This record gives sequence, C-alpha cells and structure tokens, in this order.
Amino acid sequence: MTEEKEQVPHYDVYWQEEPYYYPSPGFVGQANCSDPDIFDRFTLDKFPECFREFADLLHWDKYWHTTFDSSDAPSWKWFVGGKLNACYNCVDRHLAQYRNKTAIHFVPESETARIEHITYQELYRRVNELAAVLRDDIGLKAGDRVTLHLPMTPELPITMLACARLGVIHSEVFAGFSGRACGDRIWDSESAVLITMDSYYFNGERLDHKIKADEAVETAIKQGQRVNKVLIWRRHPGTYSSPTPWVEGRDFFLDEMVRKRKGQLIEPVSMPAEEILFLMYTSGSTGRPKGCQHSIGGYLSYVAWMSRHVQDIHPEDVYWCMADIGWITGHSFIVYGPLALAASTVIFEGVSTYPDAGRPWRVAEELGVNIFHTSPIAIRALRKAGADEPEKYNYQFKHMTTVGEPIEPEVWRWYYHVVGKGRAVVVDTWWQTENGGVLCSTIPGIAPMKPGSTGPGVPGIHPVIFDDAGNEISPEDGKAGNICIRNPWPGSFQTIWKNREGYVKTYYERYCKNPESTDWRDWPYMTGDAALMAPDGYVRILGRIEDVIEVAGHRLGTNEIESGALNVSEVAEAAVVAVIDDDNKGYVPHLYISLRPGVAPSAALEDKISEAIVDGVGEIARPARIILVPDMPKTRSGKLMRRVLASISNYHDVGDVTTLDNPAIVETIRKQVQD
Ligand code: WTA
Repeated sequence: MTEEKEQVPHYDVYWQEEPYYYPSPGFVGQANCSDPDIFDRFTLDKFPECFREFADLLHWDKYWHTTFDSSDAPSWKWFVGGKLNACYNCVDRHLAQYRNKTAIHFVPESETARIEHITYQELYRRVNELAAVLRDDIGLKAGDRVTLHLPMTPELPITMLACARLGVIHSEVFAGFSGRACGDRIWDSESAVLITMDSYYFNGERLDHKIKADEAVETAIKQGQRVNKVLIWRRHPGTYSSPTPWVEGRDFFLDEMVRKRKGQLIEPVSMPAEEILFLMYTSGSTGRPKGCQHSIGGYLSYVAWMSRHVQDIHPEDVYWCMADIGWITGHSFIVYGPLALAASTVIFEGVSTYPDAGRPWRVAEELGVNIFHTSPIAIRALRKAGADEPEKYNYQFKHMTTVGEPIEPEVWRWYYHVVGKGRAVVVDTWWQTENGGVLCSTIPGIAPMKPGSTGPGVPGIHPVIFDDAGNEISPEDGKAGNICIRNPWPGSFQTIWKNREGYVKTYYERYCKNPESTDWRDWPYMTGDAALMAPDGYVRILGRIEDVIEVAGHRLGTNEIESGALNVSEVAEAAVVAVIDDDNKGYVPHLYISLRPGVAPSAALEDKISEAIVDGVGEIARPARIILVPDMPKTRSGKLMRRVLASISNYHDVGDVTTLDNPAIVETIRKQVQD
C-alpha cells in the first residue's frame, strides 16, 4: 500500500508565474464588491452562518430556522425550514420596479431576423400561461420530473421557469445531443413528459429536431419508462416545420395550448428550500451519465450571489453569456443567476463563428452588451477565425468571463487585449456541473488578474490541495496535487439522482477522514481536477486527473505543455496525449496541433513548436511526434477530447464518438496518424 503511494507522489510543474493585471479604477468604482475585507466575513470559523448573506439576496415566503444541517453527511442541507419559489424570485418580484425592462434579448441565428426583447412583464405573462398548461392540461405537480430537449430560444428559460413555478423538477438535455442520449436521461429521471421543439437554426441550417423526440421516446420505452406526452414548441408559432410526423394522442403543440390559456395567472407554489429545482446530467469520463441534483434554496442563493459578486451584474447591465442553457453554465449564468438579479440576459441561438467570426461583436455592438461570458474553446475559435474582428466593432465590455477549461496565458492575453480592448476585467471562473456555481475566481473589483490562473477560492470556498496519500500540499511547496474543497457550500448538488453510493464514492470517499462522521470537516469534496496553488493563493488548474500524462516517470498536466505550444503565434489549438513507448516501457508525448487559417504546415514550424515546449516546460516534455490536424475532436460543451486522440495514437478503439461536436474529424485524424 505505502509502496503504491510512493510511486506516484505528485505532479511535476514547470510553469513560470505570470505577472498581474490590475482592474481599472473605473471598474472598481462601480463594482458590486470592492471591499477587500469581504474575506474576513467568510473565514472557516464563520461557517456556516456566513452563507446567510447569500440567502438574503432572495425573497423567502418563510425564513429558515437552520442554516446548515449535516446529519445526513455528505448530503448537506441548507436553509432548512425555509420556503420559497425560484420563479417568483426570478420574475414576479422584479415587476414592481422593472416591469418594463428587458429580461431576455433573444438573438435568432439569422442576422436578418428581428431581435426579440422580452420585458419582465412579458416573461411573467408567458411563464404563467405555460404554467397553466402544465398544471391544468397536463396534470403536472410538484416533484414530478420533466425532460426538456430544447434549443437556445426563449421557450427554454420560459419552460424552466414555468416548471419552477409549479415545483416541477426540470431536466434539460442539450439540444445537440441525440435522441438516444435524451431517451437515456428520460429513463434515468423517470420523466413521463418530454418538452421539445419542432426545429431550430444552427450554423446556417434549419435542423429537424422533432425526429429526436421520437427516438428519445422509443429509447426510454425500451428501458421501461413510458412517455405519455410530448409537448412541442414550434420555432415559428402556428407553423409546423418538421418533416417528422406528429403522433396523435401523444404529441401536442405547446404554442397552441398556451394561446388557450391567455392571461391566466398561476400562484407560485411555495417550496421547501431543500426540494429539487432541477437535474443536470454530466457525462464524466466513464459509465452512465450522472444526474446532478440541485436544490431550490441553496442553488438559487449561490448563483445569485456569484452573479452579483463575480459577474458584477447590476440590473442596468446587458449581460451575455455565450454558452448553451443545456449546460450548467447556462442554467446558472444565463437563466437563474442573472434573472434573480433582474438583469437583461442575452440568448443567442447561433454559433459564434457563423456566418463569420465578427458575429459576436456585432451582437455586442447592437445590444450594448457590457458583460461577456464565454469559454476558452470559443475564444480560441474566434482568435483562429478572426483575430482582428473585435477592433472593427464599437462595443465596450466592462467585464469578461472565461469558464470550462484552463485558458492558456497566450489566449488569455488575446482575450484581454483584443476582445476586451484592454479595458475589461477578466475573471477565470473554475467550477463544475456538480458545484452549482463558481468555486475559484478573482473578485474583479478587489484582486488583480493573473493569466492562466483562476483566482483563489471565492468567499466561502476554502480549497486545499492533497497529494495522493491525503497530505496537504502547502502553496510554498510549489507542487501540484488533487484539488478539494474543505467545506460544503449552498450551491453544491445534493447527490447524484438515485445514486447516493456513486455520489459518496466519486466525490468524497478518497479523502473522507471518517465515513461514520456527520462533521463536515471530515468530508472534503474531491473535484477530480489536478491543480497547483501559488503562494498568493491563486490556483492553476492542470486539467482533469485522468488527463494528466506520465512521461518518463513525471506526471505532467496537459495544459502546461499545450500552453507552451500556444506561444507559437501560428498555433490555434493544441492537445497533448501520452503514448505507450514499447522500447522504454514508459510513455512519450504526442502533440496534436491545429494551425491558424492560412498558415502552411512545415517541418520548420514543427521544430519551432517543439522548441517552445522545451522552453516552457523542459526537455522532458519534448513531443515524440507532432501531428498537424485540420481540427480537434471536441465535446458539444466545448472540451478537447484528449481521450480520443490518445486512442488514435495508441492504436486503441476510439469508442463511441457520435456525441462529439465534429465526429467526422476522428476518422480523418485516424487515417493521418495510422495509415
Ligand atoms: C474544467 C463547467 C480550468 C475542470 C462549469 C472542471 C476548468 C470541469 C475551468 C467541469 C477553468 C471548468 N479553468 N478548468 N476556469 N472551468 N474547468 O462540469 O476540469 O462542464 O472539473 O462545468 O471543467 O466541467 P463542467
């Protein structure tokens, strides 16, 4: 046992520290949070009462009696005894002051289609009418699960909010997922109702979406879950535009049904704080998808607080998170967080680089967006396809976010200088589907930015880095390890839906000090990411533990090597994988590279990339092979699929790649590498 631990004691890190960038006085002056003493309110000895101020951002029908209950550890309960309604908090309570303010700006994919501006009053009306249909025509009630398979149109948040109004648990499946993937999730969540749309626009095409509903229902039925009703929004109300036939008795047009409920108001159901707001499935690297179960009171208070302090959202801001609501980022930071604060939130149906890489900047200019939120994968794509586009447009951001993957410092600098025009602050927010909201980030009005690093733990979050044996690694050690959070927080999921054993095993078992204990101090939360904490408390995420590669006995974070490659200006994207080296009975790195448009591949360029990595990391990371590919395999949520590339390099089966964003690229790359 001890021997095994000694074999893999730590990750090796060769990174140089990056210099700080400071927020402008103009930003700090208007920031929601510019008080550096805020962290004093959130020291561990103030746990759990410090989280009261999160809940105080909400309207409670009944105030809670117990802030935190750990009796069922590690399924924590927050704000016990309290009652509230999430929809009321995101819509009704804003009417008195903001009835006539835009809640949602809907930007359809086609640039010739009109942008829709939905006021809080209009949102209130539409949510109520739908709630009337769901309750009185369909018979849904609090606690029922409903699967949503909706694309990026206003009907998606409207449906989520109507469910929340009734206490119905929604489970939105990303629209890009197949019918089968949706059917698996219908079955797992035991939904008897599916809500979908006939079609939508994507990358210049009109996609038939209804076809996936039939496949989903069939998949669910095969596994024993009956779907009684399929409710279909029509992308253009009144006109059915899918070639897939309508099923009598099962399929209903929602736009028609809500018309018959015109003007009807439905009292929001006052729900216990600990009831479930939604399920969000996350695939993880292996096994079946896990339904992360999020609470009403804890989750909503957490995302509201983070939207205010980390996203710096004020009611007068125009806020655009260019993610899909089908992912947790969209749930927390397009829908629930911003609407809880009465912000104007943008919903964009399209793809960031269609019809060209200037599109996001035209939208920003037209709507006066001043807070922008996206992912490294989108930033790299926009930099690759149109590095000079932002300067052509007259928009001005005060604040920008990156989320979803580590961002290479070189890419960060482009985001800061070119997209943000050197004026906007950038927050690098690190968190997961399971967490509800941000774990690490800088608080933008207080702390400087550091390219490539997320910040320290946000107020109330106390990260710790453990080695494999469970010893704490101190920031002074300069070593990386497994990043965990010492304490529970209100936004954390309650469990994996119907799988408590998996919940405990995946997130708590490894570092739990005593499985019998109901003391939260014995249950650090394991994130599954490898990370390094610098002496200033800033955290640098190396990537998922399973993505760490081992070269000549050293464990290296993929992002560090890839960062080196991205210092070469011709490189658009980089992915490194470990390949078995039979001669030395170890592993060597293979580096996959996609180049910026117009750059020709050459041996000289490959040498330049190798040298950049040796410069940044060291000889140990010199790629054994560099493979210049036209594009990288990516998940729909925008993560590089290193696992697929590793399978190709190792001549293993690549497995099921049908849920990738660009499955065809896999075969192209396989031929390139193996033939
Ligand atoms: C990674 C997305 C580095 C990380 C909200 C995490 C990040 C996984 C960052 C969760 C970031 C997310 N820097 N890595 N700022 N944000 N990650 O569940 O590996 O889609 O564990 O949640 O993405 O992805 P998920």
